[in-house]
Amino acid sequence: MEVRIPSEYDLPIVVRPSRDSDVEPMLAIYRRHIRLGIDEGVSDAETPQADDLRDRRKNLRSRRFPHLVATRDGEVVGYAYVVLFRKRPAYRYTVKHSIYIHHDHVGRGIGQRLMRELIDVCAAAGFRQIIGYIDADNAASLGLHDKFGFARVGFLPGVAFRHGRWADTIMVQRSLATGSKTAP
Ligand SMILES: CC(C)(COP(=O)(O)OP(=O)(O)OC[C@H]1O[C@@H](n2cnc3c(N)ncnc32)[C@H](O)[C@@H]1OP(=O)(O)O)[C@@H](O)C(=O)NCCC(=O)NCCS
Repeated sequence: MEVRIPSEYDLPIVVRPSRDSDVEPMLAIYRRHIRLGIDEGVSDAETPQADDLRDRRKNLRSRRFPHLVATRDGEVVGYAYVVLFRKRPAYRYTVKHSIYIHHDHVGRGIGQRLMRELIDVCAAAGFRQIIGYIDADNAASLGLHDKFGFARVGFLPGVAFRHGRWADTIMVQRSLATGSKTAP
């Protein structure tokens, strides 16, 4: 019989809507990823500040756009949210998402938990398509999106400049609920 020794990672991950008090830890996660180069090219002046994020979060929530955090033992270890893909009314059923996991907690299934919940709540909110833009070198994010059935629908060569070179972006898309098979 296999005996499973509990690791300290067995603490449950809770996914819930974000709150105002989550803004600082969310910013810390985002800033760290900028420093590590995922969004390099964003200067300090452009880095979102706590108030911006707080306002953005309120706007999103008041308009029913999912904005979620994952917590472990009360600590925010990741977040995910959507915004409208495009502002024109015809695009109102299509969202664009972002997902970030704390650097100390990547590769432990938290991205999966957040992604599953994000897809479910977006579908329940009536959205029909979800779109993401991923750096072509970001194997972890590409793997996560493959796993959740996102199709690679676009290749945007040389649209980013980081670490002294041009970088490509991959556009991914997934249907939500009945997608485009039924009227909204
Ligand atoms: C990309 C990211 C959100 C993934 O979240 P995560 O919690 O590390 O991923 P999980 O542990 O839940 O893994 C889910 C799946 O993603 C894929 N994946 C995760 N890490 C991977 C890696 N290093 N290489 C390849 N695939 C990977 C696997 O398919 C994995 O499923 P599996 O464990 O059954 O193989 C996270 O690594 C992150 O925040 N990275 C920095 C910010 C970022 O790149 N955000 C996305 C911008 S588009």
